[in-house]
Amino acid sequence: MEMIKDLPKLFDHVEAPGNGAYNNGFAGQDVISVDQFDRTRLSYIFHRSREMIEMVEQRGACDLLKGRVLACLFYEPSTRTSASFIAAMERLGGSVIPITQGVQFSSVSKGESLPDTIRTLEQYADVIVLRHPEVGAAQIAADAASVPVINAGDGTGEHPTQGLLDLFTIRQELGTIDKLKVAMVGDLRYGRTVHSLTRLLMQYDVSYRFVSPELLRLPMALMNVLIDRKMKVRETHDVADVIENADVLYVTRVQKERFSDPAQYEEVKDCYKITPEIMQRAKPTMALMHPLPRVGEIDTAVDSDPRAAYFRQVKNGMYVRMALLAAVLGRA
Ligand code: NCD
Repeated sequence: MEMIKDLPKLFDHVEAPGNGAYNNGFAGQDVISVDQFDRTRLSYIFHRSREMIEMVEQRGACDLLKGRVLACLFYEPSTRTSASFIAAMERLGGSVIPITQGVQFSSVSKGESLPDTIRTLEQYADVIVLRHPEVGAAQIAADAASVPVINAGDGTGEHPTQGLLDLFTIRQELGTIDKLKVAMVGDLRYGRTVHSLTRLLMQYDVSYRFVSPELLRLPMALMNVLIDRKMKVRETHDVADVIENADVLYVTRVQKERFSDPAQYEEVKDCYKITPEIMQRAKPTMALMHPLPRVGEIDTAVDSDPRAAYFRQVKNGMYVRMALLAAVLGRA
């Protein structure tokens, strides 16, 4: 499918939620980058995600996507993203072809190209979720496919559905997004979830605080976009500089698998650890988030702190993916 390039046109026929026939503008579209989501689309997805919460709490499942099939194709490890897409599809009454246990068991190991694998899966499935180690792979898949392709992470590029669930979590935890001070901590260079969330937040009146070692600073290209957009940005190496004022502390894992030099990874791997002592200095309303998996950046002693939002964030992932699947499959 073609990537959505011309957002405003898509909304020509959009009506407010609840106004009878509702063309959500997503039907048949790919989800490749968070840049496809303007405020109208974001509020639609959030509205639908809240409906999904209600539906799951009341009934557990429904048959909105009955008879529809999702193919989940993962060329990189995953727990949450794959499981939440599968749970999302099943709670909406659809079914799943899960190629998530390692593509070594599929024809990829025989040398099949990504476009051929995609063109095969679309013979069986109505939508394809793809995770791949290379930046741009999701767009290549989308160009080959006639069914919608959803990017579940393309290397160090983007992870748009994670960005959406992160933004939704901020909204749920704090009641608003505007005026917040959002601190991102850890691997800002290779962390694709940081890249997607940073881009999404540009649509709001937020202040960014980037906390990383020199080696793991936010890529210059993305920093330049923030500067061009006149966003409020500060960078530091030290969590102590941001902890007292942050409304959101978004902590990330150092992405070991992206380093070409293991010695460099060793240098930065333990750069931050959020402990109960650090949390004592944070606002009582701060949301502590992490896309997970964590490998030591947040002490497990913090888990019982009511501000630790990361497992609620995990659950929100299922609801947001339910909303997205229903939207791209045209079931508003
Ligand atoms: C993230 C990813 O895969 O980019 N995980 C996830 O989807 N929740 C973050 C990470 O691997 O560190």
